Amino acid sequence: MKTLTVTQTPRNPASESLGQEFDLSRRVEQIDSRLDLEAEIRRLKKEKNAVLLAHYYQDSEIQDLADFVGDSLALSQQAAKTEANTIVFCGVHFMAETAKILNPEKPVLLPDLDAGCSLADRCPADLYEEWLKQYPGHTVINYINSSAAVKAVSDIIVTSSNAVDIVKQLPEETPIVFGPDRHLGRWVEKQTGKKMVLWPGFCIVHEQFNARRLAKLIAGHPDATIIAHPECEEAVLERADFIGSTLALLKYVQSHPELHKFIVATEVGILHQMQKSRPDAEFVCSPPNSGCDCAMCPYMRLNTLEKLYLTLRDGYPEIVLDPELQTKALRPVQRMLEMSKNLSPVQQKGD
Ligand code: 13P
Ligand code: SF4
Repeated sequence: MKTLTVTQTPRNPASESLGQEFDLSRRVEQIDSRLDLEAEIRRLKKEKNAVLLAHYYQDSEIQDLADFVGDSLALSQQAAKTEANTIVFCGVHFMAETAKILNPEKPVLLPDLDAGCSLADRCPADLYEEWLKQYPGHTVINYINSSAAVKAVSDIIVTSSNAVDIVKQLPEETPIVFGPDRHLGRWVEKQTGKKMVLWPGFCIVHEQFNARRLAKLIAGHPDATIIAHPECEEAVLERADFIGSTLALLKYVQSHPELHKFIVATEVGILHQMQKSRPDAEFVCSPPNSGCDCAMCPYMRLNTLEKLYLTLRDGYPEIVLDPELQTKALRPVQRMLEMSKNLSPVQQKGD
C-alpha cells in the first residue's frame, strides 16, 4: 500500500467560509437580547412547517427543542420519511448533506455551515478516489461521516449503528474497502471476522480518550460499567463492557436498571438523554487528553440557539449540492437504508 499523508481540507473555500462567518456573527450580535429564543424557535418551526432534527452531541437546550433527537442512522431515517416543508439540521455538515441527498426538492438548513467533522474533512474525495484505484473489484463501504463526493464513489454507506450488520450481510468472499474511520473499521473487523482495507482516518474527539487515563478512572470507580463509542481507539474499546453508537449506548443505559454507575467514552452531549431517562444513575465522563473533564465536539457546538433562531427566521444557511453528485450519492445511502430495515427499531424523541 502506498504511504498516505492526509491533511485537513476545508469544506468551503476560505473566502466563502470567512464570508459566512462574518455574516453570521454580525447577525447574532444584532439579535434583540429580550427575545425569548426558545419560544421564537417553536413559533417559527410551526409557521414554516419545518422539522428540527438534532444529534445527541448538540447542546441540551437544542435537543429539548428538537422534533427528533437521534444518532446518525436514526436521523437519516427521519430525514427520509419527513413530510415537513423544510429540514433544519442541528448536527454537522455531512448529516445535513445526507438529509439533502435524501430530499433533493426540500430546503435543508444547517445553522452554521462550518460545523464540519474531522473524519469527513480528512478524507478528500480526489485523494480517496486515487487511493481506491489500488483496490479494483472491492466493495467500497463508507461511514456516513464523509462528504457527498466520497459517498458518490461508495457502494454502501454505514453508520456506527449498522456497520457490523451490513458487513455481515455481504457474501463471505467479498473484498471490502472501508473508510474513513480506522477505529470503527477495526472494530467491525473484530465483530465480523472479516479483514478489510482501512482508510487511516480518525475522529479528533474520540481519539482523545486514552486507555491509561481510563484505567486510572476505573480504579477510582470499580463499581462502574464502561460504555464506549466504536470511534475510540482499540485500547480504550478493550476496556469497555459495551460498545455501540450513541443510540445503542443510550438504549443500553435505559435497559439495564440494575446498573447504577457508567463511565461514558463518547461526546458529553449524550449524557443529557442518559440523565433524563436514568435520573437514579451516575454518569462519569471518560477523561480526554485535552485536560478537560469531558470531550466535546467543537464542530457540533458551532450550532447555538442564536444561530438556530436566525436559520429559522431567515431561511439560510442552506445546503446546496450539485444535482449530479446528489444523484450519485443517493444510491449508496438508499442501499444503507434498505439493508438496515430489519435492524431493531430506533427509539427516540418524536416517535
Ligand atoms: P453516531 O451518531 O452514529 O453514534 O456517531 C457519532 C458521531 O460521531 C457523529 O458524528
Ligand atoms: Fe466528527 Fe468526531 Fe465531531 Fe462526530 S464527534 S462530528 S465524528 S469530529
